[in-house]
Amino acid sequence: NENAIAQPVGTTLERYIMRKQAEFAFATGELSQLLRDIALAGKIVNREVNRAGLTSIIGGMGQQNVQGEAQQKLDVEANIRFIRALTNGGEACAVLSEEEDDIIHTGNCQGKYVVAIDPLDGSSNIDVNISIGTIFSIYRRVTPVGQEATRKDFLQGGRKQVAAGYILYGSSTMLVYTTGHGVVGFTYENSLGEFFLSHPNITIPAGGTTFSCNEGNWFDYAQYVRDFLTQCKQQRMSGRYVGSLVADYHRNLFTGGIYLYPPTAKNPQGKLRLLYEGYPLAFVIEQAGGRAETGAGAVLDIEPTEFHQRAPLYVGSANLVQDLVALAAVEA
Ligand code: AHG
Ligand code: MN
Ligand code: MN
Ligand code: MN
Repeated sequence: NENAIAQPVGTTLERYIMRKQAEFAFATGELSQLLRDIALAGKIVNREVNRAGLTSIIGGMGQQNVQGEAQQKLDVEANIRFIRALTNGGEACAVLSEEEDDIIHTGNCQGKYVVAIDPLDGSSNIDVNISIGTIFSIYRRVTPVGQEATRKDFLQGGRKQVAAGYILYGSSTMLVYTTGHGVVGFTYENSLGEFFLSHPNITIPAGGTTFSCNEGNWFDYAQYVRDFLTQCKQQRMSGRYVGSLVADYHRNLFTGGIYLYPPTAKNPQGKLRLLYEGYPLAFVIEQAGGRAETGAGAVLDIEPTEFHQRAPLYVGSANLVQDLVALAAVEA
């Protein structure tokens, strides 16, 4: 991509951001500061994730979030950490979180950005020591600086994102993001407390032999989804489903493959939320050469109307997503 002045693998996130700073003439320091804030909160959440079993941070809060989901303690803890880091960093004037009914105003009315976030993705996996993640999506505000952000700032549509990415708290902890100039990956070195550049230019293979979906929902799936999955099995592709979107997505990004969360009886629009799951992961996958579709068009082209609206998500290798889209078109 045009801005990729090759930087040595092993440079720190800090140095990388500073050098990229020079390349993106228009991008003043704010976006860099936002990425620093997110990385800082990620380091803190990473520490808590690694200690979850030891401290009393596992288990449910005994309360529900706006999604009607039982909140896990780490959902709430991660939510607090990211909102606090973004508030202290000064660049985000408001935050939309999976764990908050309405937008959270940080008080940084001079901030030019707003952030939509899934503070902890895959929370059903926390207590069983399986990989979990954080997903974030950044917009430049459209309301005047100096005022509080409004719905308009968050409902601009997926193609208006200026940056998006995720943190995967896996066998190693990685930060993967795009600012619209390709996809870059950093790996966290616990002993030094730093993210180091490990993947300067991530691209997804055009094809793949992995499909990821919760087949427990098979009898809810539309015929085109069943036909697609049957084709995958006839081709002896392999099924891989961790139950953490970030973990399944990241594996498929590196090896090729497709992740599906189709409409189900329980979630007729699919389970995944558009603003802090669908849009950010769709931005990253398109920047990596892949595709993200809903079965009725590109995820990034959906017009947003509600903060917590859900959308079907078929995301991954371009060829596999195209095969599914072709079947959906026949059935439509
Ligand atoms: P979250 O933990 O942020 O609410 O997201 C959970 C999502 C996603 O991470 C995962 O792929 C999916 O829910 C799993 O859903 P099922 O258990 O219905 O397969
Ligand atoms: Mn949740
Ligand atoms: Mn999630
Ligand atoms: Mn979540």
